[in-house]
Amino acid sequence: MKEVIGIIGAGTMGAGIAQVAAQAGHQVILVDQNQAQLDLAKANLEIILNKLLSKEKITSDQKSSISSAIQYEINNTSLASCSLVIEAIVENLAIKHSVFSALEEIVSDTCILATNTSSLSIASIGSVLRNPSRIIGIHFFNPAPLMPLVEIIPAVQTSQKVIDNVMTLISAWGKTAVLCKDTPGFIVNRVARPFYGEALRIFEEGIADFATIDWAMTSLGGFKMGPFTLMDYIGNDVNYTVTESVFEAFYYDPRFKPSLTQMRYKEAGYFGRKSGKGFYDYSENATSIKAKEDIDLGQEILDRILALLINEAVDAVFMQVSSVEGVDLAMTKGVNYPKGLLKWADEIGLNEILLRLEDLQLTYGEDRYRPNPLLRKMVKENLNFYPK
Ligand SMILES: NC(=O)c1ccc[n+]([C@@H]2O[C@H](COP(=O)([O-])OP(=O)(O)OC[C@H]3O[C@@H](n4cnc5c(N)ncnc54)[C@H](O)[C@@H]3O)[C@@H](O)[C@H]2O)c1
Repeated sequence: MKEVIGIIGAGTMGAGIAQVAAQAGHQVILVDQNQAQLDLAKANLEIILNKLLSKEKITSDQKSSISSAIQYEINNTSLASCSLVIEAIVENLAIKHSVFSALEEIVSDTCILATNTSSLSIASIGSVLRNPSRIIGIHFFNPAPLMPLVEIIPAVQTSQKVIDNVMTLISAWGKTAVLCKDTPGFIVNRVARPFYGEALRIFEEGIADFATIDWAMTSLGGFKMGPFTLMDYIGNDVNYTVTESVFEAFYYDPRFKPSLTQMRYKEAGYFGRKSGKGFYDYSENATSIKAKEDIDLGQEILDRILALLINEAVDAVFMQVSSVEGVDLAMTKGVNYPKGLLKWADEIGLNEILLRLEDLQLTYGEDRYRPNPLLRKMVKENLNFYPK
């Protein structure tokens, strides 16, 4: 029989992770302190499974075995039999600490304790444990059942055995498990920052409007969504807060500087889709804004944002946050980028990327645009990220 998996928090992420584990054949114990949230998670799962059944993606036998595999509980004491517990509660270090300290008294000595945190360090979460070698980050993306990427983040305290077991388990769940260092934003939320930040900067300088920047990134770059459409989708409040936390965590490195424009949109309550207005207007009578489909301008926008994204991807490799393949997999499987950024860099030519960054740094005199040392070294030595 497969191990019992515990999930704490039946919100957006916890409910999705419970579905993933149940679909992989585990018995799952889903805990939330709020009974209404448990009822909602159960009702939502029923709707999702009915949809999958009507699309013939699962059989009715599979539907009933997935439904019956999840046990809904209000108290963490029900997690005693679990070999892995994944915490997906509110993003607050003090609350996570109290949950993990209490949890360690309930589970067995061999139970792995994981967190789905997006922004807190795994080392800080694990610091309250008597045995911190069992803490690990298992970072799913939203919606967990659909997004293939899972970032696996060992803390400095984590044992190799725990890392190996978690990598094997998450891969067996059909996910793309990518190993990543315990650093701010992990891979995706760090490397993706310029997609938003540089788009906002281009707008702030008056080079192009939202619609034109979105058009350049989707039509010329092949991204599924433009940066402004995506920020409206994520929510300007959420997206701004992630940028701010990454900026602070990197000791205010200008590469991650948040945008005043986005701050104003957030302050005004222009969160995006969920508030009916963000960079775009989502009301019924809204007039759609037309992009200025100028190829030269579009190419200039794409080249600039892409150069910064690639610089960030190179930095993640340089600082050993992940491998070349890990960074490329993370961006394609976690945020649907049309191509791995390092593969893309090889195709464009590393020298060309370096020239773009040097030009931006010279023009603006800002450290934000400084080319990564690994990029410089690779250009000097005429190297590529992948074999030619
Ligand atoms: N939402 C995302 O896109 C996303 C993506 C990746 C990671 N995360 C991370 O996952 C975690 C959960 O995020 P979410 O969006 O699912 O949050 P959410 O607000 O949707 O759900 C959190 C749930 O935890 C419950 N809860 C809070 N304190 C609890 C406690 N002490 N014991 C038991 N249950 C408790 C709440 O009742 C709520 O149902 C956070 O750490 C977040 O950073 C979120």
